[in-house]
Amino acid sequence: MNRRQAIHTTAALAGSFFLPKPLAALFVEGRLNKADFGPDFKWGVATASYQIEGAWQEDGKSPSIWDNFAHGKKNIKTGENADVACDFYHRYASDLELLKSLNFKVFRFSLAWSRLLPDGTGKINQKGIDFYNRVIDKCLSLGIEPWPTLYHWDLPQVLEDKGGWTNRDVVDWFSEYTHLATKSFGDRVKNWMVLNEPFAFTTLGYMLGWHAPGKKGLKNYLPAVHHTALVQAEGGRIVRENVKDANVGTTFSVSYAVPKSDAEKHQRAAKRFDALMNRVFIEPALGMGYPTDTLPFLKRIEEKYAKPGDMERMKFDFDFIGIQNYYSVTVKKSLTTPVVWANEHSAKKREVPADQITDMGWEVTPDGIRQILKQFAAYPGVKRMIVTENGAAFPDKVENGLVHDSQRLKFYADYLEKVLQAKREGAPVEGYFCWSFMDNFEWAEGFRPRFGLVHVDYETQVRTIKDSGRWFQAFLK
Ligand code: FCB
Repeated sequence: MNRRQAIHTTAALAGSFFLPKPLAALFVEGRLNKADFGPDFKWGVATASYQIEGAWQEDGKSPSIWDNFAHGKKNIKTGENADVACDFYHRYASDLELLKSLNFKVFRFSLAWSRLLPDGTGKINQKGIDFYNRVIDKCLSLGIEPWPTLYHWDLPQVLEDKGGWTNRDVVDWFSEYTHLATKSFGDRVKNWMVLNEPFAFTTLGYMLGWHAPGKKGLKNYLPAVHHTALVQAEGGRIVRENVKDANVGTTFSVSYAVPKSDAEKHQRAAKRFDALMNRVFIEPALGMGYPTDTLPFLKRIEEKYAKPGDMERMKFDFDFIGIQNYYSVTVKKSLTTPVVWANEHSAKKREVPADQITDMGWEVTPDGIRQILKQFAAYPGVKRMIVTENGAAFPDKVENGLVHDSQRLKFYADYLEKVLQAKREGAPVEGYFCWSFMDNFEWAEGFRPRFGLVHVDYETQVRTIKDSGRWFQAFLK
């Protein structure tokens, strides 16, 4: 069977709406109804350029920090890289048709900066522009809204060579890139996200060295944070300037912080964790500055890296905030604060049952998404929110052309129920995007964790819709 046939077979199977019993029960019990979320609620899937595209040096693209990092020894747990990944660069048309068959109306993807501007700035690579034009036009022809993210972690390596996010010039580099992207696609693309998870890429990439570019320490982290906060607002302004009727947002990785116990020391640790993970980037955008009350070490940003007028420049009134939530964190006091993970009281140590822990080691905590949505809704400056990522990795097996991913299904049903509850309790949640459309390259973890609604066989590139994908297909019909 070739890939096309395989897609048709699985699509046909899915089309028959044969739902295994527990799936059907979710409808029969009336637990979840699409209508309850409202007629304008956006249902989508999310992806990112480096994780799916492949074609890492095709048609003029230059290497990004992730190409380099993954090619480096021992940076990726499995020794893999995303040179080919899901080969979306060549298979985008059939993949988007498959997405259409699942009844989603939004495709969140990211633009690879190094495809559009291989030197980071300056010379434009028309073939890169052409690729995203094909993706965008294909989406539109299928009735799918394209929702690009400008930056999902793949900085051109040439810019990293000049210091990357630690160099203040990144604000100018990013502005040039954003002007190009919005002027090239803004006639057809109205919904934009500036950054994907600034907390994650600054902490993992510039503080802990676990992600590209593998830099460590406060001397890298603090300038990276500040320049990211500036870029976040500047990017928002440029999108609004160049795109008529733009809907511009940015996304945050957020986790509800629960103290290990009532003890004061754990409560204080939870507050610090919350500030570091959930507040560092939204508060400057809202005009509140950095949360130096809780994290005094951030004052060093103001002392060392900020210039007059920066507090004002970091402000931007986003149309929506993208909430990306996977798990809540139980926090205990540790001597090594404020290093985030030192504070985390791991699920394993708390003897959380194995079926409540995903393949990433993340605990399944559905009510956490409700709590964090409400926490963000409480900021007066947050107008609207979209869950721009939520999902789970579990080990999946293809058996007779089917993938019975019942754990993922239960995860989605439980989290969606809580999203709805948050909405009913007043949080302005206007959309929900699954992470992810299809299995893909999970950064430093390699291909092992599978997050897709669609299974990908990386040897053959055959796609197989999982039960969770078929559940959404029926739910969204
Ligand atoms: C998020 C990332 C996304 C994906 C999921 C599992 O932090 O934005 O690219 O890796 O986690």
